[in-house]
Amino acid sequence: MPKLNLTSDYYTGDHPSLLWEMTICQSLGDGDGAFAKALTRPAPYGALVGEFLIANSSLTVACANIIEIGAGYGTLMAGLLTVLQPRQIGMVDISPTLLEKQRQRLQKYPISFHCSDLFTWLPDLKQQPVDLLLLNEIIGDLPTITGLTRKNLQNSAPTPNPIAKKINPASLNESEILSEACRLITTYNLDINKLTEPFNLNYGALLFIERLAQTNVARTFITEHGCDTVLPYPFSLFPSIQPGADRNPRRIILKEHDEYNIRFDHLEQIAIALNFKVTRFHLMDLLKIRFDDEINYLLTSQKPINETQEIFLEFYEHIAEYQGILLEQ
Ligand SMILES: C[S@@+](CC[C@H](N)C(=O)[O-])C[C@H]1O[C@@H](n2cnc3c(N)ncnc32)[C@H](O)[C@@H]1O
Repeated sequence: MPKLNLTSDYYTGDHPSLLWEMTICQSLGDGDGAFAKALTRPAPYGALVGEFLIANSSLTVACANIIEIGAGYGTLMAGLLTVLQPRQIGMVDISPTLLEKQRQRLQKYPISFHCSDLFTWLPDLKQQPVDLLLLNEIIGDLPTITGLTRKNLQNSAPTPNPIAKKINPASLNESEILSEACRLITTYNLDINKLTEPFNLNYGALLFIERLAQTNVARTFITEHGCDTVLPYPFSLFPSIQPGADRNPRRIILKEHDEYNIRFDHLEQIAIALNFKVTRFHLMDLLKIRFDDEINYLLTSQKPINETQEIFLEFYEHIAEYQGILLEQ
């Protein structure tokens, strides 16, 4: 039977490993980390995100307000605030431990901090206009439905939509899990053909897009590992760093919890159906990852000749799977 993969107990707990996860943002540090040398122009991750948003949307430097959900150590926001000057900033996180890290990191800014699960907190946004909402490497942590087959979906009825709006995803029972998968797949005509069974569905991430459409958020920036990621040129020429793209969200086993990578085409399909303007991008493009003779040789030969090149190779293999989506309404 299908099950729900949840991470909320992990993040609300006090596990030392909460502080270990090396996200792309963390690994670039303030533009001075070892991985940052892989960028054409080393800079903090958040600063590059800010520049990307200014270049690719109507966001202005002196915008009204920004909210980040699931900010880990607050590293993205610290970099972003070197580029943007919002009048109001909010941080929302389910983890009291990580929220405290964000408070320490960003203490020089007037920020309001909220310790809350994303789905509990999101309805608060219904009244409030927001210029920019950021979710960097968090949607893979949201509930994922695992163990689906076409047969168990055929034998289930979709949840009526008004009920779905009330559901806290963490509290679904077995038959509700199946009904919710059925509702999303049939409502948005999500393609599940050709998937090897049993397969998985990024339920929390898809539900988030639906609930986002009920808010007054102008722009939402999302990145995560993808299960349908296509490498940009010229990196697409190197088989050694091709990410798996079988479109079945893959379990990623981490310390004391699991997450799943994201099927971005499903996110895009729901967003378009709900009238968002959608821009998809690869993180290698956003960060302007270096490509020159040294990198060409390294990716072709797979033979690093020093520690720096070993680090490069590790970074290129890792970042290859990351993509993002910018949703505007
Ligand atoms: C993998 S970390 C990413 C941290 C940071 N954004 C980065 O890129 O370095 C996931 C973050 O999302 C938060 N988080 C996970 N599930 C959440 C939920 N349901 N609601 C709010 N925050 C959540 C975690 O506490 C953590 O801060």
